[in-house]
Amino acid sequence: MKPYLKLDHIDKVFTRGNVSSEVLKDINLTLAKGEYVSIIGHSGCGKSTMLNIIAGLTTATMGGVLLEDREVNSPGPDRAVVFQNHSLLPWLTVYQNVQLGVDKVFARSKSKKEREAWIVHNLNLVQMTHAKDKRPSEISGGMKQRVGIARALAMEPKVLLLDEPFGALDALTRAHLQDSVMALHQKLGNTIVMITHDVDEAVLLS
Ligand SMILES: Nc1ncnc2c1ncn2[C@@H]1O[C@H](COP(=O)(O)OP(=O)(O)OP(=O)(O)O)[C@@H](O)[C@H]1O
Ligand SMILES: [Mg+2]
Repeated sequence: MKPYLKLDHIDKVFTRGNVSSEVLKDINLTLAKGEYVSIIGHSGCGKSTMLNIIAGLTTATMGGVLLEDREVNSPGPDRAVVFQNHSLLPWLTVYQNVQLGVDKVFARSKSKKEREAWIVHNLNLVQMTHAKDKRPSEISGGMKQRVGIARALAMEPKVLLLDEPFGALDALTRAHLQDSVMALHQKLGNTIVMITHDVDEAVLLS
C-alpha cells in the first residue's frame, strides 16, 4: 500500500500554567488514497484532537501529518472538516456559508454561473435549498449539521474529515446522508476519516 495520508508518531499535550494533560500518545495511522476509515472511542479520548491535527487546526506536540509526502501544518482546502459542533459563520446565510468554500476552491475552474449551480446542487444533496437564505441562528442543530456537510462536500476535498457528522440527525435523514457520502466517496474516490460513536455506522461506511 502506498501511503497517502500518514500520521507519524503523534503526541499531543495540552498545557495550561503548570498543569499539562497528555491527550494523544504515539498515534500512527496510514491511509491509502480512497480509503474510508472510521475512528471509534469513548468520549474525551482525543478523537476530535486527532482530527484537528490532520486538518492543521491544532499542532501536534511531537510527530506530524503527511499528505502525499508533504507535511501538513496549516488548514487548507484539500482537507475539509465537518465539525462536531457545526461551525458555520453566523453572519452569513446558509448559501453564503457554502459559497465561501466553493468560491475559494473553484475560482479558476468554474464560472460564476457554474459555481452557483454547484452550490445549489450541494444544498439539494442535504435537502437545505429551502432555507438557503436563512442564517445559522434561524435553523435547527440538525440543519446546521447538514449545511456543514454540504459545505465540506462542495469543496471536493482530497481528504474529508468528519467529526460525528450524523450525530444530531433523525434516522431517515441520517440514512439519506450516509448514502450521499458513500455515493460521493465512490464517485470522487476521496480519502475519508470519520469519527463516530455508532459501530453499525462505522461498519456500513468503512
Ligand atoms: N484546547 C484544549 N485545551 C485543553 N484541553 C483540551 C483542548 N481540547 C481538548 N482538550 C482535552 O483533550 C481531551 C480530548 O478531547 P477531544 O475533544 O479530542 O475528545 P473526543 O474524543 O473528541 O471526545 P467526544 O467523543 O466527547 O467528542 C479532553 O480531555 C479535553 O478536555
Ligand atoms: Mg469530539
